Formats: sequence, structure tokens, C-alpha cells
Amino acid sequence: MSFSILGTGKAVPEYILTNDELSTMVDTNDEWIKTRTGIEERRVCKDETITELTVKAATAALEDAGVKPEELDLIICSTMRGENITPSQGCMIQKEIGATCPAFDVNAACSGFIYALDIADGYFVRKKVKYVLVVSMDNLSNITDWKDRSTCVLFGDGGAAAVLGEGDDLLSINLTANGNDEVLRIPHGTNSSPFYKHEEERAVLHMAGNEVYKFAVNAMATGIKKSIGDAGLTEDDVDHVIPHQANIRIINASAKNLGIPREKFFCNVNHYGNTSSGSVPLALDEANRAGLLKKGDIIAMCAFGAGLTTGSCVIRWAK
Ligand SMILES: CC(C)(COP(=O)(O)OP(=O)(O)OC[C@H]1O[C@@H](n2cnc3c(N)ncnc32)[C@H](O)[C@@H]1OP(=O)(O)O)[C@@H](O)C(=O)NCCC(=O)NCCS
Repeated sequence: MSFSILGTGKAVPEYILTNDELSTMVDTNDEWIKTRTGIEERRVCKDETITELTVKAATAALEDAGVKPEELDLIICSTMRGENITPSQGCMIQKEIGATCPAFDVNAACSGFIYALDIADGYFVRKKVKYVLVVSMDNLSNITDWKDRSTCVLFGDGGAAAVLGEGDDLLSINLTANGNDEVLRIPHGTNSSPFYKHEEERAVLHMAGNEVYKFAVNAMATGIKKSIGDAGLTEDDVDHVIPHQANIRIINASAKNLGIPREKFFCNVNHYGNTSSGSVPLALDEANRAGLLKKGDIIAMCAFGAGLTTGSCVIRWAK
């Protein structure tokens, strides 16, 4: 017995940053961004804090699930950078929603939501929990190099949450990591110690886009295939794929490699860009609220990101 997803909820900042506005900031244009990535716009925090966004997503997911904060047994937040180094973002959510359960963060970059689901699975299997809240949220706009056109056009802020309850709808889950800080890295940037000898790097995202692209196309197909096989299913059994929303070309290539019809892949990368660990649950929540997911549907989810990490799983939709 593991879990079923009982409810989802999203939160994104109000401000919409269009490709045209970005073209006034760096040497780029709407056509380049759309053709190379599929992204038309993304959300960027102006007034919102990551705590407000995580709490909004959590509250919406709890309402959707019909679960009260005080019923939660665990909160896991996947994020690369919460409001503070400590306390964890999980603890900030716990405080704001009025829960009393343990709470912590996990950082697996864009694969964070699937990593959090895998951790939650362990708690359910050990019968330690009845209800778990997973919140996946990143705020990449504050660690983006806004002068680097090859990266600043790709990312956005936002994310979503899911409430998990006891059930048997997680059919398979797989995580990988391949330690590599060369192709994708965001350094800390500041070190307050007067004794520290190393040079400080700017706290912005550094990426070799082409290398990540090749890794991503392979990782999506390999991860989804393995999770479908582990679930005892075939590609034909899959009703929906919820892929990491990094680049429409990566999603199209993965669909082709897997032989799964492209229409089964849910995409909202055009509206949000890559929201890191928020990306997969944000797509799941939008598919859920659009009424696309029917009880019993088979859903494959897959993400990849810095680490380099990947996560994939197959679930049966329980709502
Ligand atoms: C980043 C990415 C979109 C680049 O697309 P690409 O087709 O490989 O483009 P290239 O890097 O080869 O660049 C092609 C040209 O466009 C230029 N270019 C790069 N960014 C540009 C921009 N925003 N606007 C206009 N031109 C741009 C480059 O300078 C290059 O010019 P050159 O040929 O004169 O040198 C693509 O590699 C990608 O999506 N990678 C994966 C990134 C990712 O998903 N990261 C997150 C992982 S979680």
C-alpha cells in the first residue's frame, strides 16, 4: 500500500513577462524564443514571496483533496531556494497553514517533485503517514542572469502542490543522479567568512544548453520507458504524459522516441517556461482542473534537471 493523489493546487505570480518585453532587455526576439523553445511568456515574482506562493498552492491542494492542515502527517517541499537557508520552506508552509506535522525540504532541482513523491512513498510503505502534502516551488527569477540571452528566456516562477493519501495508485517510480556541475550549476555566491580563500562566483544560473538538451531528450525517453515497464504496462496503456516543461522541442522529441502520440503529452511551457521543480505538478494541476484526467487514467510523469537528476513515475489517477 502506498499512496493516491487526492488533490492538487497551483500558484504562479501575477506578472506576465512576454517575449516582446524580454526583447527590450537582451538581444532576442519572440520568433527565436518561440521556435527554439515553444515559450511565449513566463511569470515573474514582483510582489509575491515564495512563502506566499507555496502557501497558496498548498491551500488550493488541501481544498481540492478535502483534507485539513491539522490532518497532515508530513510536509515535503521541493525547492532549490526557499525563503531562508533555514528554517526550511516546508516549515514556513507548516507555520502558515497551521499544520503540526514534521516538515522539510528536498533539493533535486527540476526533478524535485518526483523525488518528493518517492520519499513520500517510503513513509506510506512504513505506515508512518495517512496524509502527506508535497509542495514544489521555485523562484528562478532571483537566480537568473538577466543579461544572458541564452538562459534568461527559458525560465519562470511558480509551482504547485499535491496532497497524497493512503492508496495503491503509485504504480512505479524511478530516480537517477549523475553528479555533474559542469553543464548546469547555480553557485551560492556569498560567503560571509573572512577566512575563506576561494573566489566567489555570481549566484546565477550557468548552463551549457546543448549538453543539457541531449541529456534531457535521452533521459525523458529512458525514464518514461523504464517506469512504464516497471508498472507492468506498455506505452499503449498510457493515457497522459506529464513531462517536465523545459522546451517544447524536448517534449516533441521524447514523444517521437517513445512512440506515444504527441496529443497525450500535456504542455503549458508556452505560458510558464521552465519553472524547475514546480513544472511537473503545475502541469498536473492544470490537466486536473481542466477535467482532462479521468478516474483510472494511467499517467506517466518525468522530469530532469541540475545534478544531473531525473525522476519518472507512473500513477493511476484516483480522483
Ligand atoms: C538553450 C536552447 C534553447 C538553445 O537552443 P539551440 O537551438 O541549441 O541554440 P544554440 O545554443 O545552438 O544557439 C543558436 C544561436 O542562437 C543564439 N541565441 C541563443 N540564445 C538566443 C536568444 N535568446 N535569442 C536569440 N538568439 C539566441 C546563439 O548565440 C547562437 O548563435 P550563433 O549561431 O551565432 O552562435 C536549447 O539548447 C535547450 O533548450 N537546451 C536545454 C536547456 C534546458 O532545458 N535547461 C533546463 C534543464 S532543467
